[in-house]
Amino acid sequence: MFSNETQENPLFELARQRRSVRRYTGEKVSDDVVREILKIALLAPSSWGRHPVEFVVLRDRATIEAVARCKRMGAGPLPTADVAIVVMADMADCELWIEDAAVASTYILLAAEQFGVGACWIHMRNRQGQRKSADEEIRQILGVPDRFSVLNVVALGQKGEKKSPRTEKDLSWQNVHYGRYGQK
Ligand SMILES: Cc1cc2nc3c(=O)[nH]c(=O)nc-3n(C[C@H](O)[C@H](O)[C@H](O)COP(=O)(O)O)c2cc1C
Repeated sequence: MFSNETQENPLFELARQRRSVRRYTGEKVSDDVVREILKIALLAPSSWGRHPVEFVVLRDRATIEAVARCKRMGAGPLPTADVAIVVMADMADCELWIEDAAVASTYILLAAEQFGVGACWIHMRNRQGQRKSADEEIRQILGVPDRFSVLNVVALGQKGEKKSPRTEKDLSWQNVHYGRYGQK
């Protein structure tokens, strides 16, 4: 059990409840909620405060399916998502674009949970497409300039599966060291 103090912390509760949701009911996620989620993503920190991360929001089924096909294996939940947010960054603008895009993606995942929407990170960087890399094929379909690279696509949809929130036993405390590696 977590202490009462911890349980009452809204960020902790959000982080505990957030799980990767890969099945969706097919009901719509409203445009207003998508916009709120994007607002939170735009608040994510970025290196040097340069904000190199950009998002392409997809609602059109055929386009979402086409983007899903850009990953040869493992795009699983994407074709059934109501909304897909393609997360990319301007590599010319920032050498830490991967980190920046990953932080923004994490904000999206937490924001989705805040609105009760299911979400899953579908990885694209360094993944094979049908003929080229997943990144290149997605950029071609969406008309994204070459200086960008796609990190992932976040699938969003109303939750069609129930997952247990994390508990104390899920915390990998063995990964935490104090003062010196190996010191507990
Ligand atoms: C960098 C990264 C890449 C991921 N790639 C995928 C993916 O391509 N497909 C997928 O279904 N889930 C993907 N996930 C979700 C993880 O599988 C998931 O977060 C992990 O199994 C823990 O489950 P939870 O999110 O429910 O806590 C990815 C997560 C991260 C952080």
